Amino acid sequence: MNIQVPIEVVERSELSARQRELLEQAIGALDHAHAPYSGFRVAAAARLANGQIVTGTNQENASYPVGICAERVALSAVNSIAPGARILEMVVTYRPSSGPGHTPLAPCGMCRQALVEQHVRQKDALGLMLAAESGPVWLVGNASDLLPLAFTPSDLD
Ligand code: THU
Repeated sequence: MNIQVPIEVVERSELSARQRELLEQAIGALDHAHAPYSGFRVAAAARLANGQIVTGTNQENASYPVGICAERVALSAVNSIAPGARILEMVVTYRPSSGPGHTPLAPCGMCRQALVEQHVRQKDALGLMLAAESGPVWLVGNASDLLPLAFTPSDLD
């Protein structure tokens, strides 16, 4: 078995106006991260099918394991604010304490699992756009592509 993950690498200038807007919103949301322990800010912005944009940021805790990643904050917000909504596209960006990065960040394993659940819930692709504050952008057609052989609801049957 040989599993491949299709990722399109594009320049920022190649993004559509909507994609650029989503990325700008995520970069703006980095200020809302609560990351005093790692100093590593992460923000996610999701565009819903109705055009609404919902953002999420990592929220750390003095009890370290209590902290939650930006992607799962955004997914929880979407499903709480707009239950049943379909996410067309989600962008994930970050800012380390050392200053803006240049290379895209891929979601952690737990967030990939949460993104698979969202894909199953909405029964339609959930595009992912991964980008630092400058540099190239990685486009993933469907977030589930990032977690091959995922555990899904059908495994519980
Ligand atoms: N983090 C995210 O928010 N998303 C990821 O996909 C990777 C990691 C956060 C968790 C923690 O607050 C900080 O980044 C450092 O790991």
